[in-house]
Amino acid sequence: MAKYKIAWMPGDGVGNDVMEATRLVLDAMQFDAEYIPADIGWEFWCQEGDPLPERTIKILKETDCALFGAITSKPRDEADEELAPELRGKGLVYFSPIVKLRQLFNLHTNLRPCKAYPGNPLNYRDDVDLVVFRENTEGMYGGVEFHPIPEGVFNALCANPKMEKFRAKGLDNLALSTRIMSRQGCESIVRQAFEYAKKHGRKSVTVIDKPNVLRETGGLMVRTAREVAKNYPGIELWETNIDAMCMWLIKNPQDYEVLVAENMFGDIISDLAAGLVGGLGFACAANIGDEYAVFEPTHGSAPKYDGLYKVNPMAMLLTTKMMFDWLGEAEMAERLEAAIAKVIADGVVGTYDVKKDGKPNTTLEVAQEVVKQLGVVPA
Ligand code: IPM
Ligand code: MG
Repeated sequence: MAKYKIAWMPGDGVGNDVMEATRLVLDAMQFDAEYIPADIGWEFWCQEGDPLPERTIKILKETDCALFGAITSKPRDEADEELAPELRGKGLVYFSPIVKLRQLFNLHTNLRPCKAYPGNPLNYRDDVDLVVFRENTEGMYGGVEFHPIPEGVFNALCANPKMEKFRAKGLDNLALSTRIMSRQGCESIVRQAFEYAKKHGRKSVTVIDKPNVLRETGGLMVRTAREVAKNYPGIELWETNIDAMCMWLIKNPQDYEVLVAENMFGDIISDLAAGLVGGLGFACAANIGDEYAVFEPTHGSAPKYDGLYKVNPMAMLLTTKMMFDWLGEAEMAERLEAAIAKVIADGVVGTYDVKKDGKPNTTLEVAQEVVKQLGVVPA
């Protein structure tokens, strides 16, 4: 029997291309795993009215973790139009399967390292090396939303006098998205950021929010971070507002080491940080819970490139490296990262985003080059 059971979810669009590339590398490394294909994505919404079928949830429950390519999400009207005719009018509502997976499996931590690998022509600066800890199940993406706002909800909100000005607009004209955060959620994500800093010899953790305006939720996050920080005397806690953080990350990204934020701010800041180290072609990510994890690069499904083997597989390969780390396969992780770093540093083989002169290589050619370099000694 194989050592690991991995749920294999290419998902939509280029998810297939990058997962095929990853498979080449996994097989070359003789990673001792059985891969169980699992259905997820747009196709299953259109055909079955469910982008995350029950059978997939069952597979996930029976595996150690999942590798996930990419997902297509479309606005409500388009989702309704593409649904199979026999399923229309049944009240089916599209939802993002990745957001649902995070909630269902309590994958509370979204870890997104952004490292400028030497020689990457897309680096904004060569000395960026930071990690984003994004709370993954609460906050603005917790999914508690209303449109129109039910009367009971509206009346309860009217306990706050600031609601008065909305009454005149009419309940049907109001939409409400909530930002519910718990002390436990804040504490867990901040603690993990500090633990990471401690383990990796980082000197600071920056908590990002907006407590001067979002006094209750932002305040909870920052106050909790201060409490947690007391347990880590050698590591400084920096507090920065989300807007200022966007500016500082452009101005002095090299100063930052570990960033921590709630769900939406973490989503925003992690794309910004990815842009500093080559963009989505290099942006890896892991959704981590206490018992399960889903490894999925930050990029989407890029439908226009679907099946063209054009996109950069590095994000998916670096995501696979994160899977090795999580499984405790440190040697595998180091070996893979060293090979990836070598291919980037050589600058000979690369997809269209990195290769400005000469013919760009395909997704699979880049993976094959990584395979060739698997023997390099980790730095
Ligand atoms: C991400 C993506 C997702 C998110 C979307 C596709 C739901 O932007 O993983 O960062 O916001 O979490
Ligand atoms: Mg995002």
